[in-house]
Amino acid sequence: MRGFPLFLKLQGRPVLLAGSGAAAAAKLRLLAASGAQVRLFARAPSPELFEASRSLAVACLRGPVTADDLRQADLIVGAEGEDEADRALSLAARAAGKLVNIVDRPELSDFTMPAIVDRDEIVVAISTDGASPVLAQRVRAAIESVLPPALGRLARFARRFRSAVQSRIAETGARRRFWNQVFAGPIGEAVLAGDERRAARDLIRAVNRGEPRAEAGLVSLVGAGPGDPELLTLRAARALREADVIVYDKLVDAGVLDYARRDARRVYVGKSKGDHTLPQAEINALLVAEAKAGRHVVRLKGGDPFVFGRGGEELDALVAAGIRVDVVPGITAATGCAAYAGFPLTHRDHASSVTFVSGQSRDGIADLDWAALAKPRQTLVVYMGLGAAGVIAEKLVAAGLSPATAIAIIENGTRWDQRVIKGDLREAAALVRDHGIATPALLVIGEVTRGAQPGTRAELLAAAE
Ligand SMILES: C[S@@+](CC[C@H](N)C(=O)[O-])C[C@H]1O[C@@H](n2cnc3c(N)ncnc32)[C@H](O)[C@@H]1O
Repeated sequence: MRGFPLFLKLQGRPVLLAGSGAAAAAKLRLLAASGAQVRLFARAPSPELFEASRSLAVACLRGPVTADDLRQADLIVGAEGEDEADRALSLAARAAGKLVNIVDRPELSDFTMPAIVDRDEIVVAISTDGASPVLAQRVRAAIESVLPPALGRLARFARRFRSAVQSRIAETGARRRFWNQVFAGPIGEAVLAGDERRAARDLIRAVNRGEPRAEAGLVSLVGAGPGDPELLTLRAARALREADVIVYDKLVDAGVLDYARRDARRVYVGKSKGDHTLPQAEINALLVAEAKAGRHVVRLKGGDPFVFGRGGEELDALVAAGIRVDVVPGITAATGCAAYAGFPLTHRDHASSVTFVSGQSRDGIADLDWAALAKPRQTLVVYMGLGAAGVIAEKLVAAGLSPATAIAIIENGTRWDQRVIKGDLREAAALVRDHGIATPALLVIGEVTRGAQPGTRAELLAAAE
């Protein structure tokens, strides 16, 4: 560790800032946000700095900076960006016994200003000791993506109940466990969702009992996206990190489960046509029982939970049982597969609407409005349509759609083993058969698929390099 990290309380304290351009404007905004009394010296203020100083009501002094000015300041920041001026300021500040930072000049600085992730009470500062501000920004972006925007609210909530918890749970280890469970469980989730009344009520009950779990739990119906784990949403990744139990389907990629806590219990309820590891009613009962035991359950589904995912049935069962539910949408197979295969679902010249249909219903091939689906200038995405590809093509052609309409079949879309096969509608069944297409696969019908990049994902990536 080259620099010692400190958080300075600058409210009302004098800080001298010297500089004229964008860097000075950025530092001015940052220092003003911390409540410092900034004395700004700008020999030739840029329009941006002028505007920043005006909006923050900070006077723009023309200088020069005198020894007296330096003596009066607690901290000195130089952002001139000119070697001679920066060196002179650094020398003079040090001669006056003051700590100085010169932007992007670690050798002239006593302290550096870190990249910051700001969540009100929670502030994360990242330093590379001036070695690479760009690297610091990348680390910052990575941290930003895992800290929920409302984290500060959680900190304020914890502050509010800190002494109450301390007085009821005396032993330090027990208290740490208590808070960990609060933050990772339904109480923390309620605070982040803005439901502080419920969170406060549950926390008071839990504190009186000495443990936070026995309140009714929470089920998050989470969309895992079509395959590539990088298509998880930030909220889905957070729900996975916080879940006690993860109940997942066949279509969930193994890489997605890596986002879960190691000690989370994983329950596979994989469903595929004709192979229901657990019947739906038992899945519903399992979710209800786990939540009633006070656990945070993530019900993880491929794609989006509300697109051909039985999310609606599970939601109804949970609501009927009085369980708290939240729904985290996911990227559905249609949008994920089209994007990774390189074609749009709508296009001003070829398709002004897109329809998602299921190729199968509870009792066989779906009974769809073929006449409506056969109209030109639209895209039809068929989920679960592999087995019925030939029948679907026949019905559409019989309803008037040209047998020469372009189609694409996408197998394992967005995964490493994605395959894209192109052809036309009359060949649909033959393409599935001859290429040995296996589930999961989508059949996309419409002129937009002419732009699809055929082949495997590995081939596509290799071609792009
Ligand atoms: C039960 S549905 C689930 C759909 C999911 N909820 C969604 O929003 O994507 C399963 C069907 O979705 C399609 N599917 C799901 N993931 C896919 C993928 N990675 N590639 C191609 N098709 C996929 C297949 O048609 C599969 O038979």
